[in-house]
Amino acid sequence: MADYDFDVLVIGAGPGGYVAAIRAAQLGLKTACVESRETLGGTCLNVGCIPSKAMLHASELYQEASSGALAKFGIDIAGASLNLDQMHAEKAKAVKELTGGIEGLFRKNKVEWLKGRATFTAADTVEVAGRSVRAKNIVIATGSSVTPLPGVEVDQKVVVDSTGALALPTVPKHMVVIGGGVIGLELGSVWKRLGAEVTVVEYLDQILPGMDGDVRKEANKLFKKQGFTLRTSTKVTGVAVHGDGATLTVEPAAGGAAETIEADVVLLAIGRKPNVDGLALEKAGLELNARGQVAVDHDFRTATAGVWAIGDVTPGPMLAHKAEDEGIAVAENIAGQTGIVNHAVIPSVVYTHPEYASVGQTEEALREGGTEIKIGKFPFLANSRAKTNRDTDGFVKVIADAKTDRVLGVHIVSSLAGVLIGQAAQAMEFGATSEDIAYTCHAHPTHSEAIKEAAMAVTGKPIHM
Ligand code: FAD
Ligand code: NAI
Repeated sequence: MADYDFDVLVIGAGPGGYVAAIRAAQLGLKTACVESRETLGGTCLNVGCIPSKAMLHASELYQEASSGALAKFGIDIAGASLNLDQMHAEKAKAVKELTGGIEGLFRKNKVEWLKGRATFTAADTVEVAGRSVRAKNIVIATGSSVTPLPGVEVDQKVVVDSTGALALPTVPKHMVVIGGGVIGLELGSVWKRLGAEVTVVEYLDQILPGMDGDVRKEANKLFKKQGFTLRTSTKVTGVAVHGDGATLTVEPAAGGAAETIEADVVLLAIGRKPNVDGLALEKAGLELNARGQVAVDHDFRTATAGVWAIGDVTPGPMLAHKAEDEGIAVAENIAGQTGIVNHAVIPSVVYTHPEYASVGQTEEALREGGTEIKIGKFPFLANSRAKTNRDTDGFVKVIADAKTDRVLGVHIVSSLAGVLIGQAAQAMEFGATSEDIAYTCHAHPTHSEAIKEAAMAVTGKPIHM
């Protein structure tokens, strides 16, 4: 340690980096974390998971209160109105509380925050704000940022990315979203609920690529039912910004006649790319893989000894909880323990209404890989609590190995899918069979009984269908 400043230096204080730093410090390692933002928490806390969920929650409340949907429960709210400034203020307050909380955790655990951008000058040395810092281990946790689309310039006024879409000062009349993925549908939902007309332009023939086919089909149906215009198999070839909006030129993905769409606001959401600019990775002896990511092995080691990487900058789903789990594992590995992340069991959730949640493999991927499977499905239309709550959109789909009955994937569409998927992830982590789930007692009346009944449907019959 003599000539090292730190045992562990983490670059980036997102869910990957801040968690890695805290765990390393908890394990007795002298730890610093470099972050160039003014607040800790990375994309997720500042401009991602947290502010988007704040807006999703508030916009859902507004829609419930203003649409008359509560009248059937005997709740008459006349004249509910939108105070968008207050909605933004409450969101900002939640973000501030949470980012401030990470600062508190850094102080409590004695993690030193080095403010500024880190650049490698050698495999064990980075420069931050004019200071050269040497560490025995360096963890790259620099995250990701918006993928640009050639010909579409983000000005954060008319053409926005997710950060701009979280802070629009007024509700647009017509928002066009480029990309029918998670960000497009979540933030499109926010502005739809607040009164915008929303058109989603998606290059592929279905929204939500990567999710199970039945889930994608249901999403397609439900978003249309909510009044979204979905333009699938369509590509945007240009966006021209004018006085108070933009004209998009689109054409069929397979080629064909071009047409134009007028929008007040265009949201660009076609994916995210790893943050590696300015890191001078070559000084650490590192090259990027074909997808521009920092490749790692099972233990999160890069090709250079003493340099590790986690989170969005590495391969795998770009999700906060994946980054967090990798943060814990990398710190434990650095400390000589055995840190493991089971990448086969990482849940993903789209936090719209209803929510779309998934863990494990899709039916399509399993069939393509030649695995023999059995499937059980159960609709919320037959779940007593969902019926009582007038909340029957969606279903649970359990996929198990035909020979061993081991659960290989669970896909849920429900207002509570994000919470329900946790049970499925836990079951899969413990190697559960569909029978294990079917014979687990679930509380009545809850939405979770639909998981039990879908598991019962894998090998036999559910009771309520
Ligand atoms: P980041 O959170 O991106 O953090 C990296 C940090 O490193 C940044 O703060 C950056 O400033 C800093 N940094 C980069 N380079 C340097 C450098 N050279 N020197 C110093 N600092 C540097 N995921 C979910 O699981 N659930 C959600 O609900 C969800 N919602 C999202 C909503 C939106 C709108 C967006 C954009 C993303 C969302 N995500 C969500 C994805 C999630 O935010 C990311 O997967 C997660 O933040 C990745 O964590 P990370 O630690 O790898 O990187
Ligand atoms: P995404 O990968 O989810 O979706 C991008 C969509 O854009 C895809 O459907 C793709 O086919 C489409 N597309 C690509 N190029 C296009 C083009 N030229 N024209 C039209 N469509 C095009 O990416 P998104 O929504 O930007 O989100 C980025 C990442 O952030 C995701 O990978 C996700 O992991 C993470 N995220 C997670 C959330 C969650 O967990 N709830 C919420 C928001 C983001």
